[in-house]
Amino acid sequence: MIKTSIPSYFAHRRSRLFEGFSKQKVDGAAVVLFSNQELTRNHDVHFLFRQDSSFYYLTGLDEPGSVCVLLSKEASSLSAAKNHETILFVAPKDEEKELWEGERYGVEGAMRVFGADRSYPLAELGQRLPELLSTANRLFYRLNRPHSEHEDRLMIEALEKCKKAQGRSGKALMTVEDPQIVIGEMRLFKAPEEIELMRRASKISAAAHNSLLREVKPGMNESQVEALIDFHFRKDGCERNAYPSIVAGGKNAACLHYRRNNEILRDGDILLVDAGGECDYYAADITRTIPVGAKFSGDQTKAYDLVLKTQKMAIEMVKPGVSMVQIHRAVSESLAEGCLQLGLFNGLQSSPADVVASGAIKRYYPHQTSHWLGMDVHDAGLYQLNGEPRLLEPGMVLTIEPGFYVQANNEQVAPGFRNIGIRIEDDILVVAGGYENFTLDAIKERAQIESERAKALK
Ligand code: GLY
Ligand code: MN
Ligand code: MN
Repeated sequence: MIKTSIPSYFAHRRSRLFEGFSKQKVDGAAVVLFSNQELTRNHDVHFLFRQDSSFYYLTGLDEPGSVCVLLSKEASSLSAAKNHETILFVAPKDEEKELWEGERYGVEGAMRVFGADRSYPLAELGQRLPELLSTANRLFYRLNRPHSEHEDRLMIEALEKCKKAQGRSGKALMTVEDPQIVIGEMRLFKAPEEIELMRRASKISAAAHNSLLREVKPGMNESQVEALIDFHFRKDGCERNAYPSIVAGGKNAACLHYRRNNEILRDGDILLVDAGGECDYYAADITRTIPVGAKFSGDQTKAYDLVLKTQKMAIEMVKPGVSMVQIHRAVSESLAEGCLQLGLFNGLQSSPADVVASGAIKRYYPHQTSHWLGMDVHDAGLYQLNGEPRLLEPGMVLTIEPGFYVQANNEQVAPGFRNIGIRIEDDILVVAGGYENFTLDAIKERAQIESERAKALK
């Protein structure tokens, strides 16, 4: 569906970006952002298009073949009260192309719908860029994005032309700085409208996971479970998945980024589903682990209870002033203590802290506990400031996702623990004094999971 208007927060974000530049005494900034391109799947067929998150964050424009140039007031001819000028290059209207591919906004729509001060056909970019950049002092452009050879070449040519236009000045090319640092910092702190979209994506995704408790049957293929979860996401209002779903039964659950999703689910196995939907470019990221049959086995129960206890403890740690590193250490020690108690370190007499310090815990827990979440599932934003782990602040959203994995060939553990992969993942907003769990509705208590499974398999 083509948009006829967009919320005012897109323009506010551009103003805030330039307020940030002023505060940091960055005068005469130019920012050049390229949209994502359509990528060929074969012949004239493309992969499903999704806009670049930072491009969308600042423009609301979801068309490929677009470029956004933002000029600070000093670097533009703008006389109005605004602190920046927005120039959009877009695919122009074209009756023949629109007959095949659908309606375009065109140059006029870029101004009317997306609030550009000026707009031009994309084909004019190379010719107009040198002049647009001619009065800028600082250029913010991300070099070497995926598939960006053409974009990078165009920018270098524009910079060369800017330099030549200055005659024999002896000046070097303008320095190129990565805008993703400043935009990433903005994206890290979620505004109310972003929190609302994340709540919606989380609610829909949690409901989809809960539906699986009633729908999964032994004998189903993992791909059928993937189709069910996609159906629930779309039916309830997510435009697409936030990332490819992991639907992993039995031994596949112990493969961290399992993607094949094409094996038969067997009674007695565990099923790990890591899947989240996206609402207007905001992601949910949920993992739940359930039995394919009605109940977890004895050893599966012990492992599940350990991961769940650890995950709840970690969520309770979330508040301003705590770091992800502290949370990860506490999670690792809790899992290490549990693994020692379950005899999974071959009778090793050691403290949980030693098991973590030596790296031995990575045998069962090889990944991190958290990442930022937002428009991207692994979202923008720095994890360290001045070389130190960053402390949580209100408005940040992170996942809490401890896990426990034992591969089939691990002869050091009792057979009942082999082929186990358990991960429990929720999406947590940091608020003053604590947290809000966006994905609280997704069932994770073992008794409730087993009662739902028993009803489903009656
Ligand atoms: N779904 C990817 C992750 O949990 O990081
Ligand atoms: Mn995650
Ligand atoms: Mn996940």
